[in-house]
Parts: sequence; structure tokens; C-alpha cells
Amino acid sequence: MSTAASMPPAGEPDSHAIAIAAERRWAWVVIAIMALLVAMMIFTGLHWAAMPPSRVETVDVKTLHLKGEFVESNLGTSVGADGKVTVRLVAQQYSFQPQCIVVPAGMPVTFRGTSTDTIHGFVVGTTNANTMLIPAFVSTFTTTFPKAGEQLMPCHEYCGTGHEAMWARVQVLPAAEFMARAKPGERLSCVPR
Ligand code: CUA
Repeated sequence: MSTAASMPPAGEPDSHAIAIAAERRWAWVVIAIMALLVAMMIFTGLHWAAMPPSRVETVDVKTLHLKGEFVESNLGTSVGADGKVTVRLVAQQYSFQPQCIVVPAGMPVTFRGTSTDTIHGFVVGTTNANTMLIPAFVSTFTTTFPKAGEQLMPCHEYCGTGHEAMWARVQVLPAAEFMARAKPGERLSCVPR
């Protein structure tokens, strides 16, 4: 009698077996999702040449303002001898330097930035230009702005009581206008509008 209690009546489905089958199905679904995510990581890592976190470029915060790439006179937009456009910027509580950044439309632009005090970040308007700026590390990425116009560039990492007032402007000029204003060895400044 006691064994008969745990057995289903003849003709009824075995609920225990059904539960095991269902759990096994879900286990395969979870395994498939994990396999898909790993495959996506491998694909984007290789195909999009995404940089793993091991790519670190450091800079000395104590001498940032005094010498090297991020001294004040070297900040802003420059066009190299090879025609490459580079923007260098520094974030600090609660502003970006420079306050207005000028870039060309339809050309690759490389951003190089760092922070002097705490973690900041920025996003340029509705574009995909987006990075964190971390003290002692150089953040870098290359992007192309599809069309001319002015964009706001707010800080998007909470950095203190002045965070919400921390932003800069990005002026995207037509490529011809930008290149006409570019002089070798000089920084470009925004056009008064
Ligand atoms: Cu800087 Cu938020």
C-alpha cells in the first residue's frame, strides 16, 4: 500500500518524470544561451578588433599638467602630418578641457583623454562616441561623425556634487571647412556661432 501511494494510478502521466524532462529542457536552453553569448564575445572580439581590458596605457596624474601629451597647450583638436585628426582632452571636477571641441564630419577622429581627479566620462550627443575617463589611464577610441552640427557632450559618470553641470560642446564642421582651418602644428578652436 505504501509504495502504491507514490506511484501514479494506471493511465495517469508520471508527474515526477515530466518535471525531470522539463528541467532537462530548460538546462539545455540555458546552455544554449551561454554558448551563444560566448560565441558573440569571440566574434566581436576578433571581428570588430575590440580591445580587451588588458590594453592599458598609463599616464602620471601628478605631472599631467606640467609635461607630456596632456599639457594645456597640447589639448584640443590637431591634424597630424599624415592627415589624421586627434582630439586630446582632460576631465576634472567639474569641466572638460577644452570646453568646445571641433571635429570634421565624415572623417575618422581619434579621441585621447584622461582625468586628473576622479572617474569621469562623456558621450557626444546622440552619436556612439562614448568613453570613461579614469585617472592615470589614457582612454582612446576612433569614431566618425556622420553629419555636421553642434552636439552637447555631458559627463556621464557621477563625479561629485557638480556632476550635472559638467559638459562641453562638440562642433562638427563640414570636412572641407574643417580642413581649410587646420594648420600644421596648431590646435583648432571652435567657430563662434
Ligand atoms: Cu564629471 Cu560627472
